[in-house]
Amino acid sequence: MKGQLSKTQNPLVFWTLISCLSLSYIAVSVQALDHQGNEFSGAPRKLAGTTTLAQCLAVGGARTAFPGTTAYTNARSVFNLANQYAPAAFVFPTTVVQVQNALQCSKQFGIGIVPRGGGHSYEDYSLGGRNGVLVVDMTGFTSISYNEAAQTATIGSGWRLGPLYLALWNLGKVTIPAGDCPTVGVAGISLGGGWGFTSRKFGVVSDNILEAQVVIANGTLVTANAQQNSDLYFALRGAGATSFGIVTQFTFRVHDVSGPITRFDYSWTNKAQQFQAFKAFQIWGVNAVPEISASFYMDPFGNSNIEGVYLGPQTSLPPLIKTFVANIPTPASSDTVQTDWITLVVHNAGFPDGSNPTTVLSNPTPPTRTFKAKSIYVNPPGLSDAGINAMINAMRQDSNDNAYFIFDLYGATSNINKVATSATAFVHRTSLFSIQMVAYWNQNVGQKNADLTFISNYWNAVCPFATAEAYQNYIDNAEPLSAYFGSNLNTLTRIKLKWDPKNVFNFPQGIPM
Ligand SMILES: Cc1cc2nc3c(=O)[nH]c(=O)nc-3n(C[C@H](O)[C@H](O)[C@H](O)COP(=O)(O)OP(=O)(O)OC[C@H]3O[C@@H](n4cnc5c(N)ncnc54)[C@H](O)[C@@H]3O)c2cc1C
Ligand SMILES: *[C@@H]1O[C@H](CO)[C@@H](O)[C@H](O)[C@H]1NC(C)=O
Repeated sequence: MKGQLSKTQNPLVFWTLISCLSLSYIAVSVQALDHQGNEFSGAPRKLAGTTTLAQCLAVGGARTAFPGTTAYTNARSVFNLANQYAPAAFVFPTTVVQVQNALQCSKQFGIGIVPRGGGHSYEDYSLGGRNGVLVVDMTGFTSISYNEAAQTATIGSGWRLGPLYLALWNLGKVTIPAGDCPTVGVAGISLGGGWGFTSRKFGVVSDNILEAQVVIANGTLVTANAQQNSDLYFALRGAGATSFGIVTQFTFRVHDVSGPITRFDYSWTNKAQQFQAFKAFQIWGVNAVPEISASFYMDPFGNSNIEGVYLGPQTSLPPLIKTFVANIPTPASSDTVQTDWITLVVHNAGFPDGSNPTTVLSNPTPPTRTFKAKSIYVNPPGLSDAGINAMINAMRQDSNDNAYFIFDLYGATSNINKVATSATAFVHRTSLFSIQMVAYWNQNVGQKNADLTFISNYWNAVCPFATAEAYQNYIDNAEPLSAYFGSNLNTLTRIKLKWDPKNVFNFPQGIPM
């Protein structure tokens, strides 16, 4: 399959491993690789009279899509077109029994199985991460109920963020602290953590999972929460993508966002200002109040900006960003607007201001791109001056400028970092920010190799100034699992062994046993 980057094929990527991460990390990585593509099951009972996968899935009665059909071609379109894996089939269940049927059929025919939410996996793991897998598309799971007294919402796992924000707003002017892209699936983002524009106040999305219903490897539907199956509950909150089962339903703690919300934006277009603007972001970010979530953006063209969301009225904002404003170079433009939550969601999703929320958020069309991304976490107080210079210099080596870099603020003053690293599988609790690095070539396949090298070089340049951690929701097949799960990895492998001893739910970066 073209387009796959692997450690053995790409010496640059291998070099990054040995130069930046300790030897124990490499050992864990190799162990992970050993567990790829394992057996799927023992000798499962055959569904009576079914001799083909299609017949077996027909017993469940869910819609399917097989190769050679338009439905299959459409279903293969996911956010990242870089790895066009060819699944054995897609199945679109709407009931738990149909999910269980799909699992049974994958065992009967000896093929892999992966669930899919919004289809935004950076490595296309919801297409299997290899060819020939049965993809269980969960987008038909869109039940929702809201418990006002408890401030919880119980939702099917197939929601995308835009429709979910709209539904939660309409039910009770509440939300979960997820990101701004309306087509991202709630399942993928929350099972891997989930940083969003209210996360510094309300935690990562996974911190808000109170309960999940999961079809586990033996086909049983189980409940995972703090009391029941608490080990599985631990694993799902940060390491839940694929490895432990198919989540059919979540109960989230939700948060009141009925009050005034203020967004702010400062932009620069001059390359010479990038260093100072970024430095101001770090200095301010160390002490930023949790009511403000913000991210910084930078690209090789010379653009930089900060986008912030403050859970409060505009009149209260100035003292809270004073340190930032005092240290920035003169912006090309800036904007501060008091708004309400759903108007903000529409704005941050990139729709024109004034759009009708119901019209634009109800059923947004998933975009596509062809790209490679990597990530790394940086601890307080941020990058040293030498680190910022190394980073900016690496950014400027891009040959076609189709790259961008996003710095999502965490920090000791945020509620993200107040949760212990061992409390859930989401381990990243000490950093000041994550860096997401993206190079995209889209149709220009001739650019691809240069982009892969460029993004690796950028990562290498930042690495000496950063941590060994990376963000699992920006999943990158060059990272060892220790970067994603750190000190929780051993616990996770024990939980995996208990719940999925035959590695039914495996993918190239799945939790090993
Ligand atoms: C445009 C864009 C914007 C983004 N913005 C943000 C952001 O603001 N903040 C942030 O934190 N992240 C962000 N991300 C990253 C995003 O969180 C991850 O890509 C996430 O995995 C996407 O979830 P999904 O359901 O759309 O993807 P999918 O590809 O459907 O799933 C991702 C992984 O989860 C597994 N999975 C899906 N459904 C289930 C299920 N029901 N049970 C068990 N496993 C399941 C899949 O098998 C796969 O391994 C963004 C990504 C994109 C492409
Ligand atoms: C499936 O596994 C769960 C959890 O270990 C167990 O409680 C249940 O009895 C198992 N069911 C079957 C059918 O093996």
